[in-house]
Amino acid sequence: MKQKIREMKREDIPTIMILEKKLFSTTWEEEMFIEEIEKQYAYVLEIKDKIIGYICGWKLLDEFNITNIGIAVDFQRKGFGQKLVQFLISKLLDEKCFEFFLEVRESNHGAIKLYEKMGFNVIGSRKKYYKSPQEDAMTLGLILINNIKKKVTQ
Ligand SMILES: CC(C)(COP(=O)(O)OP(=O)(O)OC[C@H]1O[C@@H](n2cnc3c(N)ncnc32)[C@H](O)[C@@H]1OP(=O)(O)O)[C@@H](O)C(=O)NCCC(=O)NCCS
Repeated sequence: MKQKIREMKREDIPTIMILEKKLFSTTWEEEMFIEEIEKQYAYVLEIKDKIIGYICGWKLLDEFNITNIGIAVDFQRKGFGQKLVQFLISKLLDEKCFEFFLEVRESNHGAIKLYEKMGFNVIGSRKKYYKSPQEDAMTLGLILINNIKKKVTQ
């Protein structure tokens, strides 16, 4: 299957908004994707030149926050979500950024499983963080400095 991860562009936003509306009960506005593109950590995953997934976030010094990830329903559970997270982490490691954080709805068991599989741990919660429906967020974190040190010393 011909697949490619590339930077998100403004002209991708209408397609991403269609996916976003199918995937989330509360969706981002177009402007939020524009901001993420400007912050330079927004990517799409294409299969045969069709966008089937996206991921974005922002970096502050050596910390990175994953702010959004979505995979089209028909393409879920095929490893694409994991591929996008791995892509982003690997890019950030190259930039010497070793700490990753994100918020996820407490009821989003699939996403939580994905993050836990990738080594994220629960580090806190935020009360009533989400609306429609109102729900607490779990904060997950992944700190890779020890792994990197190991790789360097081995
Ligand atoms: C969460 C999401 C991005 C996962 O993407 P995906 O491409 O389906 O995930 P992957 O196929 O890479 O899954 C990798 C692993 O994560 C876990 N996982 C992913 N989705 C899961 C689910 N629905 N139920 C249980 N485990 C799941 C599994 O361990 C899976 O490995 P396996 O299939 O070998 O068992 C996707 O379901 C999605 O877009 N959901 C709607 C939007 C959303 O909730 N985004 C997250 C906001 S924080």
